[in-house]
Formats: sequence, C-alpha cells, structure tokens
Amino acid sequence: MSDTYLQLDKLTLAYGDTVAVKDLDLTISKGELVALLGPSGCGKTTTMRSIAGLLNPSSGRITLDGSDITRVSANKRNIGLVFQSYALFPHLTVYENVAFGLRLKGIGGQDLDARVNAGIKSVGLASFAARKPTELSGGQQQRVALARSMVMEPKVLLLDEPLSNLDARLRLEMRAELQRVQKETGVTMIFVTHDQIEALALADRIVVMLNGGIEQIGTPEEIYNQPVSAFVADFVGFENVFALENGKLVTPQGPIELHAPAPQAAKGLAWRPRMVVLGSGPFQGTVRGTSFAGNTREYLLDTPLGPIKAEVDAALPSHPIGSSLSFDLPLVAAAPLSRYR
Ligand SMILES: Nc1ncnc2c1ncn2[C@@H]1O[C@H](COP(=O)(O)OP(=O)(O)OP(=O)(O)O)[C@@H](O)[C@H]1O
Ligand SMILES: [Mg+2]
Repeated sequence: MSDTYLQLDKLTLAYGDTVAVKDLDLTISKGELVALLGPSGCGKTTTMRSIAGLLNPSSGRITLDGSDITRVSANKRNIGLVFQSYALFPHLTVYENVAFGLRLKGIGGQDLDARVNAGIKSVGLASFAARKPTELSGGQQQRVALARSMVMEPKVLLLDEPLSNLDARLRLEMRAELQRVQKETGVTMIFVTHDQIEALALADRIVVMLNGGIEQIGTPEEIYNQPVSAFVADFVGFENVFALENGKLVTPQGPIELHAPAPQAAKGLAWRPRMVVLGSGPFQGTVRGTSFAGNTREYLLDTPLGPIKAEVDAALPSHPIGSSLSFDLPLVAAAPLSRYR
C-alpha cells in the first residue's frame, strides 16, 4: 500500500520512567483494516491511546491525512475509539445512545435523525432503536457501540479488543459485521486483538508487536506462512523452532547437520506440527504424550533435538506412549527465519 493516511514516526511512549513503546514506525493507508496482535503488555493499548490523543508521546510524530496531529488534543482529532468495555448509557435508548455524540457536536433536527438512523441500520439494529441496552444481547450492545462511533464519521476508528466479551458465536457474527461495515463505509480501522485467528480473518494487514516494538508487518498470508522471527513463528503455530548456526540446527545436544543445505541467510528454521513426518526419517524420538483432536492426533516426542510436536491424520494407527519412532523435519516445508531471537 502506498498512499499514507496515518503515519506513526519513531513514536516513543512512556508512563513516567516506564517506556512502553519504543521508536515505533507504522504507515497505514486510507480504508485499511489493520490488526495489532501481540502478547499482553507489548504496547497495543498504549499505541492506540497515543493515536487517539489520550497519551502524549515522549518523542516521535503522528500525522493523519497530511497534518501533524502529535500535539492536537483528543477531541479535535476526529478519531473514534471503541474499547472492550463499551459502556453504553443504560438509561438511554439505542437511538439516543447513538445520537449522543452528534448532539454534543451541535447536530440536530433532520440531519441528526438521518445520521442516527443510517448508523443504526448499518449495524442491523433498525428495529431495536427504541430499546434500552439492558434489553439487548451482548453482541447487539456491541453493535450499538460500533454505530455510536461510526456516526461521528471518524477519520480512523480504533477498536481495542471489542469482541473479547462475547461468546464464540457472537464473536464470529460481530467479526463479519465489522468487516462488512468497514468495507461499506471505507473507514480506516485499527483493531487490537489477542486472537490470531481473528486477526487473520479480519485484517488487510497484521502488525505483530513484542516488547513495545514491531516484530513483523504483513498480510495475513505473509504472517501465517512467512514468519520472520522465532517469536512470530511460534505465535502462528510453527511450534518446532530452531536456531541455525553455520547451516546446522542448534539443539540441546549440540549442532545437528541437516541432510540438505538450509536457505542462505536463514538464522532459524521452523516447522508446524503437521509438517513433521512421523514414521520415517533420519531422527529418532520417544512418544511422551499424545492427544486426539478429531481429524488429527498430536504427538509430543522426546528427541535429541529437544521436544518435537507432530500432528498426523487421526485415521492412521496410533503410537502408544513410550514407543520409539523415527521422524523427519523436511527442509522444503520449513519456514526460514531471518531473525532467530
Ligand atoms: N497507566 C500505566 N502506568 C504505567 N505503566 C503502564 C500503564 N499502562 C500500561 N503500562 C505498561 O505499559 C506496557 C504496555 O501496556 P499496554 O496496555 O499497552 O499493553 P497491551 O499490549 O495493550 O496489553 P494487553 O494485551 O494486556 O491489553 C505494559 O508493560 C504495562 O504494564
Ligand atoms: Mg491492551
């Protein structure tokens, strides 16, 4: 994506002496749906707060639509924010909840009515306008919160784990809803989630954060198939991760020669459990654990390479705990990592 809409430039964010985000660079295009993904405490909310204007950067710059907004106050940025706890006004109807921000801006009459109705309709709640939040399901309340932000026509809509309060079915529903509303309105969205499946399903691009910095930025396919570091690899399910030194796998028992040359410049190699070949190959392991997962069966092997996780078709004969198995880590299947750490 080339056209810069929102740009974070060497952004450093701190709470007192605690630096939460360091030298963060991120460029987002208009209309993009970007997911911020990463472990607890890595700086996702902090980054969002700075974009919204709720936290002043220690250094760095934020530009939006061609203007430097680093020092612009939160209420002048026209950035919407939906948090996990989306606190609707309990005594107001759906209609009045959605109208609230617009009224504050001095919008009234037919203009107000048209915008509120369009907002409520866009999240599929047209017939619920007169209800109070307590008369709605969790997912419906969430949609009111979304409509309430959308009607303000924000330049950027920030969503901080907006779906984490919902049960699995509602989450799926809301996920589709978010994607639809975003594509229909073209609003630029940044979405924080703990759930990598959600990020993969929703986002145009995923930003993986770790320790206040960015580990990798890419499309869902890139992040899922071409992780650049051991952290991202493990995060997206390449659970067998090794460092490479002089073309050899680094293992607890010392370097292990591969039977084919590893890709040049790779600092590590990673395999998903289902990429491990069980039953043949140059390595030997002992089954320490096994678990049935419907279509597949997972094995945990004790091996000279360290613990190895393998996943095979559950229709194949199972191997009891304690049995000895040969296995292979096929080089063609491995993800080459450009950073190990
Ligand atoms: N008000 C605060 N005062 C001091 N430190 C804070 C404050 N808020 C957050 N931090 C620290 O800043 C770091 C980043 O926190 P942040 O809330 O951005 O993490 P996060 O990625 O959103 O995590 P989570 O997934 O748990 O929500 C953490 O180490 C956290 O302890
Ligand atoms: Mg957070």
